[in-house]
Amino acid sequence: MKFFIDTANLDEIRTAHRWGIVDGVTTNPSLIAKEGGDFISTIAEICTIVDGPVSAEVVAEDADTMVRQGKLLARVHDNVVVKVPLTVEGITATSRLSAEGIKTNVTLCFQPMQALLAAKAGATYISPFIGRIDDISWGGTELIAQIVEIYSNYPDLDTQVLAASIRHPAHMVECALAGAHVATIPFGAMRKLFNHPLTTSGNAAFTKAWEGVPDSDIEGQVTAWLAKNGR
Ligand code: G3P
Repeated sequence: MKFFIDTANLDEIRTAHRWGIVDGVTTNPSLIAKEGGDFISTIAEICTIVDGPVSAEVVAEDADTMVRQGKLLARVHDNVVVKVPLTVEGITATSRLSAEGIKTNVTLCFQPMQALLAAKAGATYISPFIGRIDDISWGGTELIAQIVEIYSNYPDLDTQVLAASIRHPAHMVECALAGAHVATIPFGAMRKLFNHPLTTSGNAAFTKAWEGVPDSDIEGQVTAWLAKNGR
């Protein structure tokens, strides 16, 4: 499962990228507005940090405008993926953008047939919003499993399931078990993936024990050993 980071905050993207586990970035109009910066400069800057797909969303009601915006966004950087809402006009625009070889991420998916529509339109990614489904007392990760199964029934569809609206590490476990191709995660939830109290306490115990080792300078010892053994 690929890990995308779901933010437009450049500091968060830089920090997570340094961890070496970020495969791409998703943004949406709310995330861009929250940071307060210029939309296109922000997308371009993200593309210099992460060498992977970067979703940038069109904002329009009609397919013609979405297609025009999408074509322009795709020119900002080769890694830009045009994010399109799952409306009649959005699916129409996705079909036209796909036909021109432009990558798309169809967003705001809440039921399996919407995902099949996006796949038939040639979407690169479908984004089911699992947290918002949990918010209304249904099963968000059940939706992921249904879409993965439906897509696998029709191997000629190559749309990837990009689980979105992830709120916590348990969502990530469920997405991975369900076979999501990608999960996009807010920075805070991504940071929590590292945590376990037994990792923390175990690491503290190893560090404390090492204080009793006579020569604990690993770098100095290894360098000397390598020189002595001609390595
Ligand atoms: O990628 C979509 C995501 O940003 C939506 O998350 O938490 O607003 O439901 P949320």
